[in-house]
Amino acid sequence: GEEVALQPSAQTTRVKTLVTYDGELKEAFCPQSVVITLEDEVDLSRGDMIVRKNNLPTVGNRFEAMLCWMDEKALSRTDAYILRHTTRSLKARVSRVFYRINMNTLHREPAETFTLNEIGRVEITASQPLFFDPYNVNRATGSFILLDPLTNNTVAAGVIRGPSKTVEDVRKLREEAKRPPEASPHTVWRGWNIPREEREARNRHGAAVLWLTGYSGSGKTTIAEALERELFRAGCQTMLLDGDHVRHGLCRDLAFSDEDRSENIRRVGETAKLFFESGHIVTCAFISPFEKDRAFVRSLLPGGRHIEIYVQCPMETCLKRDPKGLYRKAAGGGIPDFTGISSLYEEPADPDIRVNTETQTVEEIVGLIMKALRERAIIRGQ
Ligand code: ADX
Repeated sequence: GEEVALQPSAQTTRVKTLVTYDGELKEAFCPQSVVITLEDEVDLSRGDMIVRKNNLPTVGNRFEAMLCWMDEKALSRTDAYILRHTTRSLKARVSRVFYRINMNTLHREPAETFTLNEIGRVEITASQPLFFDPYNVNRATGSFILLDPLTNNTVAAGVIRGPSKTVEDVRKLREEAKRPPEASPHTVWRGWNIPREEREARNRHGAAVLWLTGYSGSGKTTIAEALERELFRAGCQTMLLDGDHVRHGLCRDLAFSDEDRSENIRRVGETAKLFFESGHIVTCAFISPFEKDRAFVRSLLPGGRHIEIYVQCPMETCLKRDPKGLYRKAAGGGIPDFTGISSLYEEPADPDIRVNTETQTVEEIVGLIMKALRERAIIRGQ
């Protein structure tokens, strides 16, 4: 009875029966092998996919991946390779090399190419669209190999991180977000009664929005709380908005579908703007997984007063920390649309500040953000 979508036709239908040698089943689980019959006559062939309606793969011909190079001949960005992904084989190029991982220090270092056994992050561009997921969401649709078209040797193995968004893509999204949003009909905007500048003069500091984005368990709340405390100690007007809090009130009607997350961030962005206009330094801690929604929040605020902080932390560490036990529950199927497990997180391609909670302490990170506020003349002092 479950509704399913077919890729690439995007047709939807329902599961009619699940058949096995021993008879029909009510439910089937991974890794059972069953025959599925569908309610409608549909055209499906090898390589097509049957997916949950609310769990569609990304369709696109460009994605970012971690690649392990396995050939004596170095990677060349001008060569065409054969990309083998699920049951499909396509022509593809490595269109960008972002960095290589130094195996001794585990640090990232700039790279143009990879030689034998080198690992790093790349962008792959394929000749035709494929249906993929990040590897940490789905191993089968999130992994691939590259072959040399002449020798048929495997030259690389890779895991997909997600669709590729370049700094230019992010800038375009930010430009698009600047279009004035539609207001409720027959309403007139009269400006703020007491202008923010007057409030800022009395507060003796500027207003700003500090937007922390990152996976659940990456450390956003910990940093936000320490940061707000530090700002308060320095005599600033401050407010802290946190995903787990606003979802108890302002956003309690929202769940975690892509649409609900967008609406969550829209409401929070507007709320942050109200505090901003009243002269506050507003710290916001939200997963905010989509670049489009983060661009929207940025569009609400004047340039330089919105500081996007990407709270980086490897997924393995978030899984290990799992402070609320949610990853464990999500992995067991207990929480749908969980970020990093069954829902996408688009890494910020162009944040103002990047911090890493695995390698930096909370104090260091708070210090860095305070320094950025002083450099932008939002707060004064050393
Ligand atoms: S956002 O994606 O809309 O920005 P938000 O930051 O408000 O998310 O809320 C995230 C918090 O909600 C997490 O820290 C976690 O405690 C809780 N949560 C509950 N369900 C989910 C889910 N499906 N995905 C992510 N977080 C979830």
